[in-house]
Amino acid sequence: NRHAPDILSPEFAADPYSAYRIMRDEFPLIRHEAMQSYIVSRYEDVARAFKDPVFTTDNYDWQLEPAHGRTILQMSGREHAVRRALVAPAFRGNALQDHFMPVIERNARTLIDGFRHTGRADLVADFATRFPVNVIVDMLGLDQGEYERFHRWYTAIIGFLGNLSQDPEVHAAGVRTREEFAAYMLPIIRERRGSLGDDLLSTLCAAEIDGTSMSDEDIKSFCSLLLTAGGETTDKALAGIVRNLLDHPEQLAAVRADRSLIPLAFAETLRYTPPVHMIMRQVAEDVEIGGGTVPAGSTVTCLIGAAGRDERRYADPDVFDIFRTDLSAKNAFSAAADHLAFALGRHFCVGALLAKAEVETGIDQLLDAMPDLALAEHFRPTEQGLFTRGLAALPVTFTPAA
Ligand code: HEM
Repeated sequence: NRHAPDILSPEFAADPYSAYRIMRDEFPLIRHEAMQSYIVSRYEDVARAFKDPVFTTDNYDWQLEPAHGRTILQMSGREHAVRRALVAPAFRGNALQDHFMPVIERNARTLIDGFRHTGRADLVADFATRFPVNVIVDMLGLDQGEYERFHRWYTAIIGFLGNLSQDPEVHAAGVRTREEFAAYMLPIIRERRGSLGDDLLSTLCAAEIDGTSMSDEDIKSFCSLLLTAGGETTDKALAGIVRNLLDHPEQLAAVRADRSLIPLAFAETLRYTPPVHMIMRQVAEDVEIGGGTVPAGSTVTCLIGAAGRDERRYADPDVFDIFRTDLSAKNAFSAAADHLAFALGRHFCVGALLAKAEVETGIDQLLDAMPDLALAEHFRPTEQGLFTRGLAALPVTFTPAA
């Protein structure tokens, strides 16, 4: 009689994927007392939790509000739809292609130019953690020189969100960040209202909802969400795609030779090593799921990381294979996404296409700049984190550019 794996145990942190398998096979519904949450792990159950409106995002009021303020993640119905629609157009179609692709390409190039002559780099510290923040800071029309602060802020907010063991210091850092971020942003927002540009912050300042503009506080929270959601996640996806390809030299060679394979590598990376491993929901009424009942009002932790490795959904799920036929890269951004890394349904990641553009441009430029990119000798990449998970470092070597 085995016990259900404990998400808060050191064994889990070292290797969640083995624990996920035991959960899916033997404990598809777990009640975790310390986390005060139920846990589901099968693809079918996680997908359902994202799509079925009985699973609400009301939990974000306590999970997110103290660090972020009120954001679209907490909202539902019309309130959510109207605010989401303010930013969504910037992240897709012509706006993304014409306006932001040049921003993305320029930011990637600037960072790579910073180390391509040296022959070595830590692709996490020197590239992955910087590139997505720089892009979103540019999109909002903020100051890239403040990179260190933005990075510290979004790390603290993500820490707050993923504070599963309820460490009081992590909690305090999150709350402090909300104050620091507000002190930084509110004067900028007031100033921007007086001189609108063509950036996303100006769009938010100019927006009218039922004849009323958004409050400074609401705009600040929106920016906080964009920085956090767009920074930490894309950073982990970038490091992940490089690592997964380096681990599979034949697939790396294929991608290097045919760059049209990059979207496949991106989709497979999101299935195999998703940046966000878990998302919480709250059930509005009693729900039957994972072979049991979750009582009304309970929190449910939906394990995206486990869903991507579900053998009920994917053949040989523990194998990284960009050529697998049971994952469609083409559909990865429609509501019928094949992997769950961007969630599904109403809160489906609004920045998914931006993330895709960033990661795909990033890897493309890295491959161009480094024809013999290799892991630094003796380095073994290890993932860290529970809520979001990714590499803490990725030292590489290559022939320096002339
Ligand atoms: C929502 C993942 C990149 C902005 C989400 C959700 C997930 C997710 C799982 C759903 C959260 C929930 O339902 O509770 C990711 C991953 C990314 C990524 C894995 C990178 C690979 C981005 C980028 C942006 C962004 C680049 C834009 C700056 C957002 C926003 C939401 C969201 C604003 C809330 C949408 C809503 O509530 O309607 N993301 N994201 N994300 N994401 Fe992303």
